[in-house]
Amino acid sequence: MLSEQSAATVRATLPAVGASLGEITERFYAGMFAARPELLRDLFNRGNQAAGTQRQALAGSIAAFATHLLDHPDDRPDAMLSRIAHKHASLGVTPDQYAIVHEHLFAAIAEVLGDAVTPEVAAAWDEVYWLMANALIAVEKRLYEESGGAAWRPWEVVERITETADVVTFRLRPADGGPVRGFRPGQYVSVRVPLADGARQIRQYSLSGEPGPGLRQFSVKRVHEGPAPDGEVSSHLHAHVRVGDVVELSEAYGDLVLDADDDTPLLLASAGIGVTPIVAMLGHLADSGHRAPVTVVHGDRSPADHALRTDHEAYAGKLPDATVRFWYEQDAPAGAGTGYVDLADVPVAPGTRAYLCGPLPFMRMVREQLIAKGVAPADVHYEVFGPDLWLAR
Ligand SMILES: Cc1cc2nc3c(=O)[nH]c(=O)nc-3n(C[C@H](O)[C@H](O)[C@H](O)COP(=O)(O)OP(=O)(O)OC[C@H]3O[C@@H](n4cnc5c(N)ncnc54)[C@H](O)[C@@H]3O)c2cc1C
Ligand code: HEM
Repeated sequence: MLSEQSAATVRATLPAVGASLGEITERFYAGMFAARPELLRDLFNRGNQAAGTQRQALAGSIAAFATHLLDHPDDRPDAMLSRIAHKHASLGVTPDQYAIVHEHLFAAIAEVLGDAVTPEVAAAWDEVYWLMANALIAVEKRLYEESGGAAWRPWEVVERITETADVVTFRLRPADGGPVRGFRPGQYVSVRVPLADGARQIRQYSLSGEPGPGLRQFSVKRVHEGPAPDGEVSSHLHAHVRVGDVVELSEAYGDLVLDADDDTPLLLASAGIGVTPIVAMLGHLADSGHRAPVTVVHGDRSPADHALRTDHEAYAGKLPDATVRFWYEQDAPAGAGTGYVDLADVPVAPGTRAYLCGPLPFMRMVREQLIAKGVAPADVHYEVFGPDLWLAR
């Protein structure tokens, strides 16, 4: 909880800090990466840095945290902290690194706001920073303990499956012969690969199923669209990682996990490569014999682009009460819809809990349709394959 004195100062300066957060975080990252180039090379996602998206996520989360402290002094924005902590844990972020971020963030604040940063203002925002940092450090500590503590382990590719023209599934086993921990359907691993210029870049990939004891699997879409540069890690995995090669993986993390009793009606909605955590959830429901209604919806460019479609259909087919609706922009076969996902004619049982994964506009549309059909907003859960700008907003 923020002290009363700091709360008044934060309230008075939030509009000014909020208005300058974009500039502050830009300077913060520039300063931190100039002093610590290894952080950009080997920890932060330089694609996100180039596109500016991570900056917005960090800025948005601090503003959201400060606002939350003022509006609800007695509780914490757990959903936001949990999402960030899971991401940090998958990256191996350590408590001592919070002092580095603090140093460069507060230097940037002083630079941008100048004389407005009196000692009192600096102290108040310091308190906000450390309340957030310590809350994150505490959650991360618990996550590291639960997952055994090892940050990175080498895993050997034992199978490489071509799903579609752009999607490949990798199956791996620990190259160190160590145990494979369980995961909750919906979780992801971070994958770290060495690139041609000497950098080691990290990306997250959802576990796309349970391939059997001692194995993990994830499915990667090669990012190559329009004039933008090809995606670094997905291109590397597609072009260079074959059976017998070793990549480094984190343990499984992620707080968008399936959480449903046997009598909870579910709706699992995905689009494009967002299918990966959803198919893992569906596979788990099929194995556990989930009895309540499950509605499965998916949208894709065409049936040929629909990764993991065989699993998607087979798992749904194993459930006693499943409704499956697929939409394709092109080449829709009989029984599938043409165009984008549209829930207008899809019945949604009372008490439905929904899990969504796909591009933001898709999830926004599905969420709105579900809420209009009476689904409680708290029962709509989603995963974003990038910095979560939705949450930050
Ligand atoms: C929780 C989570 C789960 C995920 N699960 C999956 C999954 O199961 N399967 C999957 O395929 N993906 C998944 N992703 C996405 C994945 O982590 C990567 O983001 C994705 O593979 C792209 O990484 P990349 O290195 O190939 O692209 P990057 O190099 O990171 O590039 C990303 C985008 O930024 C653009 N960009 C890069 N540099 C610049 C520049 N200089 N200027 C302008 N634009 C630029 C690129 O063109 C590209 O569009 C997941 C992400 C998260 C957060
Ligand atoms: C209070 C301090 C911090 C806050 C508020 C914060 C906030 C965030 C947020 C909001 C995200 C995006 C999460 C998502 O939606 O995916 C993120 C990701 C990340 N954070 Fe932090 N963070 C903090 C400290 C740190 C520290 C100390 C480090 C390590 C030096 C760090 C490294 C990262 C990295 C590498 C990512 C992923 C970047 C990317 O994928 O582009 N963070 N953080």
